[in-house]
Amino acid sequence: MSEVTAAVNVQVTAGIALVSVCNPPVNAISQRVRAGLLAAVRTIETDDSITAAVIYCPGRTFMAGADVREFGKPALDPSLPEVTAAIAACSKPVIAAIHGQALGGGLEIALACSHRLAVAGAKLGLPEVKLGLIPGAGGTQRLPEVVGLNKAIEMITSGKPVTAETALELGLIDSVLETDGSDSDALAAQAAAYVRYISDAANTLQKERFTPEQLAAECTEELIAGWQAKLSMGSAGKPAPLAALHAIQTGVQQGIAAGLKAERSAFLELRESSQAKALQHLFFAEKQAAKLSEKPTGPVTEIRTVAVVGAGTMGSGIALAFAGAGVNVLLLENSEDALQRGLSSIAASVDKAVGRGIFTPAKAETILAAIQPMRDKSELQSVDMLIEAVFEDMQVKQKLFAGYQQHCRDNVIWATNTSYLDINEIATAVERPENLLGVHFFSPANIMPLVEVVDADKTSTETLSTVMNLLKKMRKISVISGVCHGFIGNRMYQAYQREAGLLLMNGATPRQIDKALTDFGMAMGPFAVVDMSGIDIGYMMRQSLAEGAYEKHAFLVHDRLVETGRKGRKTGAGFYNYDDGGHLQDDPAVLELIEQIAAEQGAERREISDAEIIDRCILALMNEAGHILDEGIARSAADVDVVFVNGYGFPRAKGGPMFYAQSRGLSACAKKVAEFASTQGPRWWRPSQALAAAAEAGRW
Ligand code: 3HC
Repeated sequence: MSEVTAAVNVQVTAGIALVSVCNPPVNAISQRVRAGLLAAVRTIETDDSITAAVIYCPGRTFMAGADVREFGKPALDPSLPEVTAAIAACSKPVIAAIHGQALGGGLEIALACSHRLAVAGAKLGLPEVKLGLIPGAGGTQRLPEVVGLNKAIEMITSGKPVTAETALELGLIDSVLETDGSDSDALAAQAAAYVRYISDAANTLQKERFTPEQLAAECTEELIAGWQAKLSMGSAGKPAPLAALHAIQTGVQQGIAAGLKAERSAFLELRESSQAKALQHLFFAEKQAAKLSEKPTGPVTEIRTVAVVGAGTMGSGIALAFAGAGVNVLLLENSEDALQRGLSSIAASVDKAVGRGIFTPAKAETILAAIQPMRDKSELQSVDMLIEAVFEDMQVKQKLFAGYQQHCRDNVIWATNTSYLDINEIATAVERPENLLGVHFFSPANIMPLVEVVDADKTSTETLSTVMNLLKKMRKISVISGVCHGFIGNRMYQAYQREAGLLLMNGATPRQIDKALTDFGMAMGPFAVVDMSGIDIGYMMRQSLAEGAYEKHAFLVHDRLVETGRKGRKTGAGFYNYDDGGHLQDDPAVLELIEQIAAEQGAERREISDAEIIDRCILALMNEAGHILDEGIARSAADVDVVFVNGYGFPRAKGGPMFYAQSRGLSACAKKVAEFASTQGPRWWRPSQALAAAAEAGRW
């Protein structure tokens, strides 16, 4: 065996060079991997005893892409395109043996090989667009050659990986290996056996590739225009997919050399873009958020069965989220009617998912079988965790947990899905408060990725670790929050809604505010959101707040609408009117109501610019988050970004409210906050200490 670099080894057995790449945990293609692979290719070319080579990776995966941590730092030779070019030009067969994931640069290395093999279940894809990039080492040129033009455009511009089984159908791999990849020696041995098989002249099964002529014929004006239109739809943030399309088109129409050149220059330009920086910030922030870095990780108990109390919209979604991850669910309701309604709505959601191709009929059957109504309280003995998703009322929740104690095991985990109640107070209802925490799902819980995990004063590390581990298994994005009214997200959203409400008093209309914020990139405007979720929900929540705990003037219009029966979409009217098709229209009566309330309050109305709307609403988010950091409710500004992007429709391309503020300049943002404190009053615009410190340091 020869060690080419610390990360790459070459072992020659019976004329086959076994090239192993080892850079844990995901074999990211860092400089030492690139240098090692380049040296390995030279060895393969120059050593006459070598007839073919296999590239494989020990550990949990094939190469998962370029090392993202190197982005933003000075470039280190050799570049990945040099490596893929050397592999592609190799005069001997080079076979990629894939297990785990071959992503981004990892798949580009595999595409440069003459043959690709993968174990069942392996995933192959070019997810660069999700990081605001395009494949930068030949992926836009070599993928069309093996899967055809349209499929390559689809894979590259969506960034979605395919499984080994689909890859075989597409011609992206030549064969599925009969090993699971956990034993790298077995993986290499099987790939070597395949090399011997193809070396037999009768078996030179090089997959039929798409010829340049075939690709050129497929590359019609109509096809390109169709993709351009599709990729330009939606709001902000489409430069990467469009740039990828352009690079693919260039290669097909002008040849691979021109295509590779176009690809590399677009990759390098995008790598420096604000969008790519924002998306890469979120990539690492989401991984960091899921870690218990500030508390040592406790022992983790496996959660096999969960009781979900409440089969309304939230409870049903939570039940589906658990069942989808292979967790058994016992569903509890007050009445048989409510239980049956919940089960029917679960069945309808699953049916819909099958119709959309999200679940196979077999998977749907497994999910439905995992959700069983509780028929006898003795069944609660099998439960590892009980989560409640019932009415937001302190007494109701306390009574519920206290009542179930006698039926559950001592070590059961108690979880509340409250979105704003004091979890320390809820915890006083149970004998073991160390077993209780908040698990705040967002609706629909089976679809929305975010979960706020609320670490109450007495929650144990073991409870927290167990639940974070469960959420990872469920592929949720979890963020730890401390206890306060509304936790991280709803508390910030209240500040945002407050400014939107005050802007109405100052002279803006719901439509103008919604449009300014959707043009900024928010998925929906604040008034469209409140109409969708029900204006009465906030109304009821505000009733429970103490005098002075919120800005009354900001919500007078909301309250008046609810009191006149306009609760939002569900009543056909709220801030907007809704027709039968659910399309929203302005209602002059709402504009009159706003003017009337403003006059009653003596508010001075004026022209409001879109820039003021964005500053007040978005900087209100940032400033409130600063207080949340001061109080230790959120662990980091990056955690705040993860919450707002994944739970509240903040544009990913801007990286979250804190990253946005940092990109805009924190001292400029601090000045704006000070200005609003003097023009709008210091009550809500008191600058946070975190912002002052960040403005000084230039970063959070
Ligand atoms: N570069 C650097 N570090 C990476 C990385 C990458 N491409 N991919 C993952 N990591 C790190 C993670 O940050 C994490 O580090 P930590 O332990 O210090 O937090 C560690 O590897 C493990 O990652 P996960 O926790 O995500 O492990 P999972 O098993 O849950 O997921 C994965 C594995 C599916 C490979 C996932 O990590 C992933 O999707 N990675 C990104 C893949 C990607 O986007 N590749 C394209 C990169 S861009 C590129 O290749 C450009 C080229 O075209 C030139």
